[in-house]
Amino acid sequence: MKKGTVLVSGGAGYIGTHTAVELVAAGYGVVIVDNLANSEACAVEGVRRITGIEVPFEQVDACDGQALRGVFEKYGFVSAIHFAAFKAVGESVADPLKYYRNNLTSFMNLCALMHEFGRSDVVFSSSATVYGQAGVLPVTERSPRLPATSPYGNTKQMAEDILRDCCAAYACMRGIALRYFNPIGAHPSTLIGELPRGVPQNLVPYITQTAAGIRPCLSIFGNDYPTPDGTCLRDYIDVVDLARAHVAAVDRMTQGRMEASYEVFNIGTGRPVSVLELVEGFERANGVEVPRKFAPRRAGDVPAVWADTRLAARALGWQAVRPLEETLRTAWAWEKRIRGIK
Ligand code: NAD
Ligand code: UD1
Repeated sequence: MKKGTVLVSGGAGYIGTHTAVELVAAGYGVVIVDNLANSEACAVEGVRRITGIEVPFEQVDACDGQALRGVFEKYGFVSAIHFAAFKAVGESVADPLKYYRNNLTSFMNLCALMHEFGRSDVVFSSSATVYGQAGVLPVTERSPRLPATSPYGNTKQMAEDILRDCCAAYACMRGIALRYFNPIGAHPSTLIGELPRGVPQNLVPYITQTAAGIRPCLSIFGNDYPTPDGTCLRDYIDVVDLARAHVAAVDRMTQGRMEASYEVFNIGTGRPVSVLELVEGFERANGVEVPRKFAPRRAGDVPAVWADTRLAARALGWQAVRPLEETLRTAWAWEKRIRGIK
């Protein structure tokens, strides 16, 4: 039985497309809203091919309140997942207004319309960046949020607070913030994946482009951190596992299982992996070489962060299941497909 329709804003993007696929698989209707600021219409085609369903797509800027209202008037939603945002940390430092305007206006428009239309279940894409360098690892949802080190990170904290306050004020409103750790990999079909524009800032796209010969050499930023091999530790979460966490969050809301009107969950694997381990794991999983060198630390990087995932397991009934090796295979399969490499 169809479970109702979910608005997926930013649904043509990397995590949004994977989530749209998993929502359809779980029996939800999906409407994708995206202005294609950082994605291509072919990503929606990928979702349609995987699901076999003509998932509706509205090319709308979520900052345009009137246009977004038109989407609400056309469809009825049981809940909304807000992915729409800019996400380049360095760019947010150079042009903070671009980030505050886009990431916060789009989110406030969505919350206001959900509230106005009386369908007030909202899932927000937050980030482990809100923890900064935590004093105690792994981080739990009760770990303090540290002052953001970039406007991008600040938009995540501010949007979490907006959602929290709306849920406290408006009787019918419920919200879940999912704090993602490091999403990587692609759908096993290779029909959807990450499409970074320009030089990738994140580790896995840089690795796959280096393996493909597009970049000559991977720079490993820092090998003198206080970690076992001197490189940073992160919690790399498969994008399909991450997508399923959204389905679990929407289920929890629509089934009335929330314990408070606003909840926060860490979405990671709970396993720290170093940069060096990830690169070597990628080489082993795929039988390819990744030329690399050690380079100075990157400004703003924290030495180590990984998730305590017990709350998500207990409350959402969700945990990451895909082994890292398989995820790294999907990352390479996706890169090969988009580059036409055999
Ligand atoms: P993405 O850039 O692939 O997807 C975001 C989508 O939102 C894009 O398709 C873009 O065109 C769209 N968009 C941006 N502004 C819009 C607007 N005003 N109106 C309509 N559409 C708009 O990024 P992603 O990796 O899929 O990230 C999704 C969300 O998850 C973002 O909020 C991001 O900050 C958050 N997040 C991502 C990561 C990560 O590592 N990818 C980690 C933590 C949190
Ligand atoms: C970064 C962002 C974070 C954002 C997240 C997901 C910063 C400081 N943080 O997190 O806000 O939520 O992406 O988009 O930008 N690395 C290399 N060489 C590279 C690229 C990365 O060694 O070419 C290392 C980094 O130093 C880091 C690790 O790989 O130790 C992971 O980097 P990355 O994928 O950029 O994610 P985060 O820094 O964790």
